[in-house]
Amino acid sequence: MNRKVTVIGSGNVGATAARSIADKELADVVVLDILEGVPQGKGLDILEACPVEGSDARVLGTNDYADTAGSDVVVITAGLARKPGMSRDDLLRKNYEITRGVTEQVMEHSPDCVIIPVTNPLDAMAQVVYRVSGLPRERVIGMAGVLDSSRMRTFIAEALDVSVENTHAFVLGGHGDTMVPLPRYSTVAGIPITELLDAAAVEAIVQRTAQGGAEIVKLLGTGSAYYAPGSSVVEMVEAILKDKKKILPCSVFLQGEYGIRDLFVGVPVKLGARGVEQVVEITLAPDEAAALRKSADAVRELVTTIGV
Ligand code: APR
Repeated sequence: MNRKVTVIGSGNVGATAARSIADKELADVVVLDILEGVPQGKGLDILEACPVEGSDARVLGTNDYADTAGSDVVVITAGLARKPGMSRDDLLRKNYEITRGVTEQVMEHSPDCVIIPVTNPLDAMAQVVYRVSGLPRERVIGMAGVLDSSRMRTFIAEALDVSVENTHAFVLGGHGDTMVPLPRYSTVAGIPITELLDAAAVEAIVQRTAQGGAEIVKLLGTGSAYYAPGSSVVEMVEAILKDKKKILPCSVFLQGEYGIRDLFVGVPVKLGARGVEQVVEITLAPDEAAALRKSADAVRELVTTIGV
């Protein structure tokens, strides 16, 4: 039987991820949205690309959760973007309602799935999915760190004029201004970037990484990033479906690791068939630990606001 991945939300991030999953023939794909016609149209368009891509993935766009039944992995990108006049709290509450409703319906049809929340504010929405779904913590894995570290890798490769394949980057913490890029654990061919670049160059990479989402928003004028977020989702889906045991930074429900309890925060985890198979604890320097605590506090504020 084919594996099945459902993507909720057929907007920019959802459609980009769905297309790549189908291209790579990782699974059959269902794309669901509340908009009528849009998921059907995008689903059919992706399906019609498959002969060219050499993929026999089956792709279906729908408004009906019955079509999502028995999914192995569900990616949630449904949500609203912040509109003029809307406060951060308004957006938080609106996306909370959307995420709660989506999660309830997903669980009705795929009670054993792994869910990858993508909707922002990411860590808080992952906590909503976790609380509403009742899934074990291994099965709710927020996408943020893969994206943030991919951005950091891009900037490292550019600064040193080396292949991105030689780069490795670790970014911890919540997905927002307070994220914690870790230069000491970010390397080129195994060598920490702190030994390859001067302090100012390292700091510039750290700052640009933390502002990576905002940089794209500003350039686009309307909407936010979707190619790199889409690719990041797919790396996680692939690690799970292929049981790769890949260590990736993801937002997971911490229960004492890194001194943080009952909160979704980005940390390195091992991703395999069972979802999160291990939370990898690395030793942090005092300033790094303090930055992570500050980032966790920012997430805590959001989840307290919506009471999850
Ligand atoms: N059920 C299903 N789909 C929904 C629902 C809902 N209740 N509410 C909204 N949607 C759909 C919208 O109709 C839209 O097609 O979610 C989609 C969101 O797509 P975009 O507006 O294009 O947003 P996108 O750029 O894909 O980002 C989605 O991911 O990276 C985050 O910050 C980003 O929270 C945002 C999310």
